[in-house]
Amino acid sequence: MNPKKDLLSLNELSAGELRAILSQARVFKQNRLAKERRIFADRTAVLIFEKPSLRTRITFETAVHELGGHAITLTSENVGIGKRESPEDIARNLERWVHLIVVRTFSHAMVEQLAKSSSVPVINALTDIHHPCQALAFALTLDERFGADSLKNIAFIGDGNNVCNSIALLCAKLGYRFTVACPPGYEPSPELWGHIRRIAADSGAVLTIVHDPKEAVAGAMAVYTDVWASMGQENEAAKRARDFAAFQVNADLLSCAPSDAVVSHCLPAHRGEEITSEVLDSKQSVAFDEAENRLHVQKAVIDHLVS
Ligand code: CP
Repeated sequence: MNPKKDLLSLNELSAGELRAILSQARVFKQNRLAKERRIFADRTAVLIFEKPSLRTRITFETAVHELGGHAITLTSENVGIGKRESPEDIARNLERWVHLIVVRTFSHAMVEQLAKSSSVPVINALTDIHHPCQALAFALTLDERFGADSLKNIAFIGDGNNVCNSIALLCAKLGYRFTVACPPGYEPSPELWGHIRRIAADSGAVLTIVHDPKEAVAGAMAVYTDVWASMGQENEAAKRARDFAAFQVNADLLSCAPSDAVVSHCLPAHRGEEITSEVLDSKQSVAFDEAENRLHVQKAVIDHLVS
């Protein structure tokens, strides 16, 4: 029997597995409701959301349904990981009933503990450190626009947060060029960045951190941004708005990127803060394509973990 697989970050996936998931996602997208794609038939997934969600919840519930399975969504009032019950005991209950656990919570260590104690696969639907499904949806969107075999050059403008970390890992694994532009003090964690750079050294990826957004977007095929204050950082919003003021993705910044560069955002966007409506609604924006691709790529992740 094969060892149980999880997707807690993109660390679990080799470059070959990443490419296979993206390829399978394209297959799922081509004929969304094909009966032969019901690889999760008669099985059940539990989706635990300890933070708000629109895209992740709807796309996982829809993915499980379209793969022939049944999804049960629980919120923090129902579960309370580490508060009402330990992650270990939650896992030891859930594994008796369901075939897949999808979790969105604050602490990445908590999801790791849950996965360690569970005999069924666990998918990270966002923690403070990683958002792997978002990075995969972005990768699928770039493959559609620029071709699966092309080497990508990506600029991330904003906070060195969970989305930034997951895109950096993706780029490191696939040998892409990735530049983060953030204000001093908002870089990705040095420990994680060191780890990602060691992966990059093997793949040929080039990873850079700068403090000038115009420098980052010069030559970029894709410009990515995310909110300046993530979920749980609302009390820092005013300070962050000041610190990130020069890091807005707007028409002026895009004029420094190649004219065929695309722009994306994991959404929800704070229009007029990290990105202008002019850019988010422009022809260069692929943010809503990426939101759609969450569905297709998550089906491929489920296929990878349970088949
Ligand atoms: N991008 C993303 O994860 O969206 P939700 O928070 O709405 O799930």
